[in-house]
Amino acid sequence: MTQQAPIPVAIVDDEEDMRASISQWMDLSGFAPAGYETAEAALEAVPADYPGVVLTDVRMPGMDGLELLHALQARDRELPVILLTGHGDVPMAVEAMQAGAYDFLEKPFSPERLSDLVRHAGETRRLVLENRRLRRERAEGSALTRILAGESPVMQRLREDVMDCAGSDANVLICGETGTGKSVIARALHANSRRSEGPLITLNCAALPEETAREELSARIAEAHGGCLFLDNVAEMPAEVQPLMVQAIQEQREGDPPRILAATSEKPAEIVEGGKLRKELFYRLAGMEIFVPPLRDRGEDVLLLFETFASSAAEEHEASPPSLTAEDAGALMQHGWPGNVRQLRNLAERAVLRAKRGPVVISELLEPDVPAPAAEIGGDPRPLKEHVEAFERMLIRNALRRHRGSIAEVMRELALPRRTLNEKMARYSISRSDFV
Ligand SMILES: Nc1ncnc2c1ncn2[C@@H]1O[C@H](COP(=O)(O)OP(=O)(O)OP(=O)(O)O)[C@@H](O)[C@H]1O
Ligand SMILES: [Mg+2]
Repeated sequence: MTQQAPIPVAIVDDEEDMRASISQWMDLSGFAPAGYETAEAALEAVPADYPGVVLTDVRMPGMDGLELLHALQARDRELPVILLTGHGDVPMAVEAMQAGAYDFLEKPFSPERLSDLVRHAGETRRLVLENRRLRRERAEGSALTRILAGESPVMQRLREDVMDCAGSDANVLICGETGTGKSVIARALHANSRRSEGPLITLNCAALPEETAREELSARIAEAHGGCLFLDNVAEMPAEVQPLMVQAIQEQREGDPPRILAATSEKPAEIVEGGKLRKELFYRLAGMEIFVPPLRDRGEDVLLLFETFASSAAEEHEASPPSLTAEDAGALMQHGWPGNVRQLRNLAERAVLRAKRGPVVISELLEPDVPAPAAEIGGDPRPLKEHVEAFERMLIRNALRRHRGSIAEVMRELALPRRTLNEKMARYSISRSDFV
């Protein structure tokens, strides 16, 4: 078993002897006690996410134990509070339990009873906090899946990288071609970090005139205190400005200087070797690196993203999303996408608008581009089987969306027996409930 930190116990009692003896016993029993003479003092010291147990006397001058219970409950209904009541004070004990106390102990009580009760309460508290943490992480994860959509392995890895980097305070360099989602990632890093309450200030490094660079830099850095400074197009920072940047980073030591997130569409190796950024600046910015893959390396995500963008554009323009033919899907998957996700999003919107006037052929909307050979772009050539599967999956998803999850209608439209449809949905991890 892993060694866990001792459970903190806040002991609130106006009688010093009582406080001291309970503290001593708690200490001996392996807890981490802290004594408070008044309810007011305890209320000030115990934070909302207190990882322990509050043990309070009821009758005290000023705020009494029941009032303390109410005040703590208003902050966190699940914080365990144990009341120490006078002998025979049954009505008080009943009131406390109704008000949400974890339990009460009648004085005089046996020390063993007390430590058993505190241990139970402490373990319950630990579970409550652990569950809250898991729920929060799940919510953050699914929020990230909405703004950084995609089911390809490279996108799943990317989301994991983003969450890992968000948990750190190191500077991050985000690399990827234009339109791959670097700005989205910078926002997600900020939103999921401990600095989320602080500002996110963006500075476009390609548009920094030398004359005003010094003032601009220090103003921006000052504004970003307690938050993040996002240096977009960092490799285009004019050479004369770079020493100022290094100096500014070095001088920012007081207060809570910003975490620096930087983005570039250049390859990191070329940034340094090509002399675009000074080494001492580059290494300060690239504490961690996130590589955002180009759209052409994301396989079937092209179809998934097209569907997503087309349905939201359809909603916006009060139109219906175009249904893709096999040829359309093939054209989307084979395209080189030099403008990446941004280009795909624009195309989806154009397709929706065009579909208002009549059937669209996607390949006619695509500007001719020569897809780079697979070896050159770093992607694997895809076997025919994968193309066919991707297309099948998309057709089933589209039909489910059109029929709002009605299996019977989808069976009819695609002329599939129920069993075959079920098997395919299971194989492609398609869940009917997503379309109802
Ligand atoms: N995985 C994704 N899922 C959904 N939308 C995305 C995804 N990636 C990018 N987008 C959308 O694509 C568009 C381009 O993304 P973004 O502006 O972040 O790209 P960028 O890499 O910063 O581009 P540039 O280098 O031109 O600044 C935005 O509208 C963004 O919301
Ligand atoms: Mg950008």
